[in-house]
Amino acid sequence: MGIKRKDLLGLQNVTKQEIELILQTADSLKEIMNRDIKKVPTLRGRTVVTLFYEPSTRTRTSFELAGKFMSADTSSLSVATSSVVKGETLIDTGKTLDAMATDIVIIRHSAAGAPALLAKTMKARVINAGDGYHEHPTQALLDMLTMKQHLGKIEGLKVAIVGDIAHSRVARSNFWGLTTMGADVVLCGPPTLIPRDLTKAGAKIVLNMDEAVKDADVVMMLRVQLERQQKGLFPSIREYSQFYGLNKERLSLAKANALVMHPGPMNRGIEITSDIADSVQSVIEEQVTNGVAVRMALLYLMGGGVSDASASA
Ligand code: CP
Repeated sequence: MGIKRKDLLGLQNVTKQEIELILQTADSLKEIMNRDIKKVPTLRGRTVVTLFYEPSTRTRTSFELAGKFMSADTSSLSVATSSVVKGETLIDTGKTLDAMATDIVIIRHSAAGAPALLAKTMKARVINAGDGYHEHPTQALLDMLTMKQHLGKIEGLKVAIVGDIAHSRVARSNFWGLTTMGADVVLCGPPTLIPRDLTKAGAKIVLNMDEAVKDADVVMMLRVQLERQQKGLFPSIREYSQFYGLNKERLSLAKANALVMHPGPMNRGIEITSDIADSVQSVIEEQVTNGVAVRMALLYLMGGGVSDASASA
């Protein structure tokens, strides 16, 4: 069993059946993380390379751990000390990795479309770990896994995604994935941070956060990208926090058992108060754990796992 498509570049064109397969596989592989010896032989002999042109804590580490738990040979190409600084192009870097018999490349890049270019020119399978404002498919998959584990389903859930939608690859991938799975997605943020492409795609936009959060099953907060604040897209951090921050009063408008999610890294006290980030409704740390499970599932399904994936070593 596996995923037929060569690469995973986004969730826009991924089917409900494919998403269900990934989530079911992740759900069963997650158990490996609770073992004393976190190692199965499933991907023995497979080579996985992470190629990150942008910083990452969660995504990069979880892909590397996922590969190691499944006995793949993992290698991390540090772009800052690679031949990229001597001017090597992305395509040539890809050819070089192909020449070293790499099976799967995980790429994060500031340019939207960089993973697609690499996928087109490489023999290895390519997984997008975040490209510009475009997509971050594995983040949305781990978010959906977390929702399914807590709420038992995705279809019919009201999911409010709040913050800088325009610059968020997390919001885009979640919009496509959750819509495919039948959730009711509401996007909320200042008008200057609502993108046209998702409005055109029929996304439900609500500018008032109280309205967006009302009766929600899930409130997903996005990081305020402080590095973009010089563009003046909203008047001040204080005002942003007042109108689009998640606090106790706002959360009380959502369903009683609503999940609080955040892809991380968080700006505590800006888009989310610390008490809410650490509250019983918060599943932020579980999202991180599910990130490893989802990435194990993808490496298994795309790396041609050869035996029962959860079998003991
Ligand atoms: N959520 C996420 O992509 O985090 P990192 O940037 O730490 O990988």
